[in-house]
Parts: sequence; structure tokens; C-alpha cells
Amino acid sequence: MGNRLSKLDILLHGCDYNPEQWLGYPEILKQDIEYMKKAHCNVMSIGIFSWAFLEPEEGVYNFGYFDEIVKNLTENGIKIILATPSGAKPRWLAEKYSETLRVGKNNIRDIYGFRHNHCYTSPVYREKITKLDRLLAQRYGSNENVILWHISNELGGECHCELCQEAFRNWLKQKYNNNLNKLNHAWWTGFWSHTVTDWGQIHSPTENGEPNAILTGLYLDWKDFVTYQTTDFMNEEIKAVKAVNKEIPVTTNFMGPYQQLDYHYMKDFVDIISWDSYPEWHSSRGNVFEAHSIAFAHDLHRCLKNKPFLLMESSPSLTNWLSFNKLKRPGMHKLSSMQAVAHGSDSVQYFQWRKGRGGSEKFHGAVIDHDGKAEGRVFEDVKEVGVLLEKLSGVMGSETKADVAIVYEFKNRWAIENAQGFCNIDKKYKRTCINHYREFWKRGINVDVIGIDSDLLKYKILVLPMLYSISDKTIDRIEEFVANGGTVVATYATGYVNENDLCYMGGFPGGKLKEIFGITANEIDTLYEDEANFVIMNDKRYKVIDYCELITPASAKVLGTYERDFYSGKAAVLENSYKKGKAYYIAARDTGELLNDLYQQIIISEGLEYLQLPYGVTIHTRQNKKEKYVFVENYTEETQTASLCGVYTDVETGQIYSDPKVFLDKYDIRIYRENL
Ligand code: GLA
Ligand code: ZN
Repeated sequence: MGNRLSKLDILLHGCDYNPEQWLGYPEILKQDIEYMKKAHCNVMSIGIFSWAFLEPEEGVYNFGYFDEIVKNLTENGIKIILATPSGAKPRWLAEKYSETLRVGKNNIRDIYGFRHNHCYTSPVYREKITKLDRLLAQRYGSNENVILWHISNELGGECHCELCQEAFRNWLKQKYNNNLNKLNHAWWTGFWSHTVTDWGQIHSPTENGEPNAILTGLYLDWKDFVTYQTTDFMNEEIKAVKAVNKEIPVTTNFMGPYQQLDYHYMKDFVDIISWDSYPEWHSSRGNVFEAHSIAFAHDLHRCLKNKPFLLMESSPSLTNWLSFNKLKRPGMHKLSSMQAVAHGSDSVQYFQWRKGRGGSEKFHGAVIDHDGKAEGRVFEDVKEVGVLLEKLSGVMGSETKADVAIVYEFKNRWAIENAQGFCNIDKKYKRTCINHYREFWKRGINVDVIGIDSDLLKYKILVLPMLYSISDKTIDRIEEFVANGGTVVATYATGYVNENDLCYMGGFPGGKLKEIFGITANEIDTLYEDEANFVIMNDKRYKVIDYCELITPASAKVLGTYERDFYSGKAAVLENSYKKGKAYYIAARDTGELLNDLYQQIIISEGLEYLQLPYGVTIHTRQNKKEKYVFVENYTEETQTASLCGVYTDVETGQIYSDPKVFLDKYDIRIYRENL
């Protein structure tokens, strides 16, 4: 990367640090530095919510306290991630410039309060924040200890103000080449006589106007625009800080398979991906469920740039905003932190360093509790992770090699979730992607979670769960993948619409997909929540729920058939040979077993290496040219064992083992290094 971050040879370990809350407590600020060192923290993110302190009045700047914080961290060898404080606005700004306040979906402008709610189009907001960003960059950018810009905080949401409407209309004019006929066709406005005859008539989808699900093409364009405009705002901040200093890379903290923004678009504008991960460990869904769900999200972030990412936030113990805020059980902090590293993170960072005395987050987990002590269960857990990360510095920058890719598309999620049809309570798109992912996760097979525009040709297996919205261009790329010898797996509801949410004509899945899969999907039956059907495959009976698509096979071989209803005996699972490759189609939603057995068959026929591991135990690897790091994880409450082949050094103890049989306690993780 040629920047300060890439020169580091340590994995980062640290927190969001909010000293502003403690300016009246000098003894606390002094103690913080001492405790940070004790906790083996080597980085702090500062400035995230500092605007009102750095610029208490318009144009009046106060860097004194911040200078002190920066100096103390620097002198004590604690690296700094410097945030641009646009995540929360000062009161004076909102009072003087109401255009900075967002207008909601109800068309009502906010009054001052909360955070992450500015109008991202407002020229005033952009001007005021970039002025402050430049000053921060000029004042602290030459300090080598500042290693990364943290642009804003958890960008998200939408604004429906007039400035945003105008920007939306301009964006549409560009997209549709100033041609309203094209827009009317893409939005299918002949429906309910909603023809647009003037650009000025266009308005974002709102509660009291055009609801999301009516002109679905409008909705999809609006979602795209919100990503575009949010990114444009972010880019103004990036431009401001980079104009002063190019050596400091930038990131913004993403939020997993988040519904609101298209991270596949945003990824190109930041230097390194980071994200905030808050799993619900120890819930009634079980830790194994949580583990593969979070692993999926880690892999999604790693694959945005196909490079290591940063775990920017996680909780050292509990959150405070879930319905039930449970403590992490002993062992879980190390396990979940190392899980992030196993899936490509080069850091373990927390929200936050110290619990505040007041405000809504005072009971959110932090490294230092209200007792003010650098001791106790949570502190020791954090310290243990810090010590371990120091031993893992060789992992820094190493890659994940995967032969399997699962497509998770933000735009597809918008399209299918917004469609009126199928089951309108929950389409379960994200969950379906994760269920397919689980089949590889549990067999210790690395998986890339990618957008459909990624390079597909490097994979052996490509999984497309519920890829309802597919452009013609994408169909061609899938064709190329299979024609070249790849294996593709798709499910019900594949290829129904194009990128504008217009249905494909001539039968589903659209265009050439019918030849690739050797089928036509004629109808889809949605089952009630208490209904089920069964699929018979290789003489075994599998329960299926939610969706049963009715398929007419053409060249495809039928592997499984429905047991019940008027489509009993008809095709439900199919396999087709297409040019040099293969295509599998699963027409019904399984309940676990069917995917287990089908993927077992596919993995074997593809010759992929896999492990037979006990339930809840998994293995993931990262490697560089010289070494492979093997993370053996146990998410169950039982003692488990797993066998490895080869010569390994236990990273924690330094002990060398040949073909080790690994003993894992409850929530244990063992990390081994293998020389390549
Ligand atoms: C988010 C925010 C933080 C904090 C945490 C609490 O991730 O970025 O400022 O509010 O949630 O979990
Ligand atoms: Zn706005």
C-alpha cells in the first residue's frame, strides 16, 4: 500500500477512545494511558464524536485538549486512528443551518438530536466538516503515529430533503441520458398511470407518496442514489484529508451484510476495509449459529478488497442495545476475537475504552468499567487477546485462499426484499446465503463471499443463493464461468428480473440461464409457516419449507423429486452438464440435511479438500509465501478434538507437533503455524 499502515508489523489492538467525556477528570485521562499499556493496547481511534469540542462555535477552534491527547498517546507508543468527526453534529450547526438536519421518509425535518443523521447533500455540512478535516490533517498529519483516517462513523440512512431530491433528479438524468422514456420504461410507470412527464415530478419513495414497493424500479434507483450520494459525501471528506497528506490511508467503518448501502460500490474509495461486529453470543439460537453467521460477515468484508481488513469495533464483553445484553462467557472473548483474525482481520478493536458515566452507552461493554480498575475478568480477557496478537504478528497481511465463492449482492437484496410476492413477511435472502456458506464453513473450507461483479473465473464452485436480480451482462459472465469448467449452484427464485426489476420474458431463469441449468422454472409455490413438503433424493427424504418451485427439466438430470402435493414426483433438485462445467439447481428451501448431502457430493466430485469435524468445530487458514496459520475453533460447550496432518508450531506455547491431535476445551481456539 506504500502508506503508514502497510509499514506496521503488528496486529492492531485497541479501542474507540472518547476522552472528551472526561475532560473534567485529569486523573482519569492520565490513568487511561497507563491502563492502555497494561491491557496491551497499541492503537486508539480518537475524534469520532469530537466536533463540538474541536469547534465549539462556528469558526472558533480549540485543539488544545486534543493536542494533549495526541501527544500522550504518541509518547507512549499507542498508534492513533484519527476520525473525522462528522458522525455527530454540534448544536450550533443545526441551529444556524437547518439544511444540515435530515428530512425523514415522512417528509418531516428532524430537530437537533441523536447522531449519524446529517443531510449528506447539504453544501453547508460539507463545507463546515471539510474545513475542520483539513485543520485536523494539517495539525496532526505529519505525526507518524497517526496511521489511519477513520472517515465519519457508520455511514447510513437516507435524507429526503429538497437538496437531496434535486441531486437525485440530476443523478437520474445522467443515468437515463436525459431521456424520460427510458426512465418510464425502466420504472414500468404504465402501471397505475404513474407516467413521469417532467423531471421535476420525481420524488424519492416516501410514506405519504410513492411507497417503496409500488414502482420498484424507482425504489432501486433511489437505493443506488443513496449509496452514491453517501459515498460522494465520504469522498469530500477523503479529498480534504488527502489533500494535506497522502501517506495516511483512509477507511470508514462498515456494518456487515447491511441492508442500507451497497458496500460493493463504496469499497473502491477507501484504502482499507474495516467493520463493526456485534454478534449475539450465548443466545437461544446457539453459538454455532452465531459463529458461522459472523464468519460469513467477516469473509464478506475481506472479499470487498480481497485483502485483510480491520475489526474496527467489537464489544469486550456485552452490548447495551440488544433486547437481552448477555455477558460473554469465559473463553468467548478470545475465541470471537481470534475468529475475526482467522477470517482476515489484522486487528481486534473495541467499542470502547472506558464506560462513560452518563448517556445511553454507559452500560455498553468497555475495557475499563465504572470501578475504574485495570483488573477483573473483562480486563484480563482483553489483555490476553493483546498478548496473543503480539505473538501473531506474522499473520499481518497474509491472505485467504478460497476455491469456493458465495454471492451476496446488496442490490439483489434490495430487489428481492422489496418485491411483493413470494412470502411477504421475510424473504430470508441473507439467511439463505449464510445457510449455503455454513456447508463449507463446517467442513473447514475457506469461502469468499463476493459481489457478482468480482472475478468469477478463479473459483471452482460458485454459489448463487436466490440471485433473483441478474443483468444480461451477469448472465454472460456466469455462462463464461460454467463454460470454462466451473460448477455453479443456484436456488429457487434465480434470474427472475433484470437490474431494473423488470421480469425476464420467455421463462425463468432469464435468458441463457435456462440452457446453463437445463431447466425452466414455471411457477413458485409459497408454503405457509406451518407447512412442509419433502424431497426424495437417493432414497432419502428431506423436509423442505417456504418455497417449492415447479420445474420443467430440459437437458438437466433430475436428482430429487417432490413427495407431496399436486407436484409430487416432479423435479426439485437437478444437475446439468453445460460445456466444460456443471450446474446444480435446488428448487425448494431445505432445512439443513438436503444442502448437507448435496454439497458433500459436489465437494467430493470437485476434489476439494475438506475435513470431517465435530459439530461446532471448524478450521480456517491464512497464509503468506512462507507460512500458513491454522485456526482451530470450538464453538460448543463440550471438549472436542480435531486432527491435523503435518508439522505445526503452537503459536501460544511455541511447542512443535507432528500430525497433532488437537484438544479443544469449551470455546477454545488453538492457533498453529506451518512452514510452507
Ligand atoms: C456502533 C457505533 C459506536 C457505538 C457502538 C455500540 O458501532 O459506531 O459509536 O455506538 O455501536 O455498540
Ligand atoms: Zn438532504
